[in-house]
Amino acid sequence: MVEKIDITAREFINRKSEIIEQTRPFAELMMRYNCAMLEVKTKLDVLNKQLSLENDRNPFESISCRIKSVPSIIEKLTRKGYELTATSIEENLNDVAGIRVICSFPEDIYLLSDRLCSQDDIRLIERKDYIKNPKPNGYRSLHLIVEIPIFLMDEKKFMRVEVQFRTIAMDFWASLEHKLKYKKDIETDIEEISAELKACADEISRLDNKMQQIHNKINASKQNSD
Ligand code: GTP
Ligand code: MG
Repeated sequence: MVEKIDITAREFINRKSEIIEQTRPFAELMMRYNCAMLEVKTKLDVLNKQLSLENDRNPFESISCRIKSVPSIIEKLTRKGYELTATSIEENLNDVAGIRVICSFPEDIYLLSDRLCSQDDIRLIERKDYIKNPKPNGYRSLHLIVEIPIFLMDEKKFMRVEVQFRTIAMDFWASLEHKLKYKKDIETDIEEISAELKACADEISRLDNKMQQIHNKINASKQNSD
């Protein structure tokens, strides 16, 4: 896929069709990831609409999609010692297409992810529950790798998509921790900072559980009064 391209503008014009031809497998692969990501997003949007009609509230607050950037793809393949080809991307990377779903309450995460995985065109490849088993640093989210078929002009292809489910509170912690991780020139004790971040994650988790309990209590009293 990546041959060092170091050419003048004139050369580029002369070799344009050759370059387009060389990069076609990569462009085609990225198009397929994009379609797969849209398919999974639509499924989640449909679930959200149905559940919001039934329960009068949205089970997720927001959903965002991204295709991994070319530098990140190259960095990851190189770091893991894989070839830089379109085939290698498809075989070795699970997170080229990524969706992040931010839910209101922890139980919404399991409701949505279970409904998604039980659809008969979805294949569950991997499930990592960092909510029941948080990472040692305190990171919490539910990660799924799913395969979904996309229908092209004359073929059907299964493509992988990574779906991350988090609550607003888990996302708040992960976003700030991600920013802090890249501040390398700090003089403070790293272990102390890690311990503080871990304590914040645990506190946030307690709040998530508390909010879930309040929500369940309100639901129960609503059902009793109906
Ligand atoms: P890679 O995909 O190679 O990173 O390894 P993996 O598949 O074992 O990763 P994992 O499924 O554990 O996590 C993948 C993604 O989750 C990352 O790209 C981040 O978006 C997110 N993530 C995982 N751990 C952390 C963490 O400690 N902090 C934050 N902020 N995000 C994390
Ligand atoms: Mg991953």
